[in-house]
Amino acid sequence: MALYSDKVMDHFRHPRNVGVIEDADGVGEVGNAKCGDIMKMYLKIDDDTITDVKFETFGCGSAIASSSMATELIKGKPVSEAMTLTNKAVAEALDGLPDYKMHCSVLAEEAIRNALEDYYTRHPEKRGENAEASIED
Ligand code: FES
Repeated sequence: MALYSDKVMDHFRHPRNVGVIEDADGVGEVGNAKCGDIMKMYLKIDDDTITDVKFETFGCGSAIASSSMATELIKGKPVSEAMTLTNKAVAEALDGLPDYKMHCSVLAEEAIRNALEDYYTRHPEKRGENAEASIED
């Protein structure tokens, strides 16, 4: 069996949503100290919906594929849903990653979480609204 799924290879070779959003509403940057890889996520948020997302990843193929897939999973979704995205969900959407590459998908989860935290820091009033929404869930 191939080490990487077709989906991983596709997102690695043709990553979606690569780039920068100059007037982003939230920006998150994370790095993995062991491998030195860095990922940066930019979110455009309108009326609590992620209307655009772009990423820059200086890292391994699995990190690039994970960031690409993660952007597809949250684009057009409510902020509250993006907040619950896990690295496992990213890896599953890619039809799996080798065990020793799972940490690469963690970068995508953390970068999105950090970008959303940045958004909440800029708009503290929104945090309350979404907290109420998640209590109701
Ligand atoms: Fe560093 Fe994949 S080896 S994120």
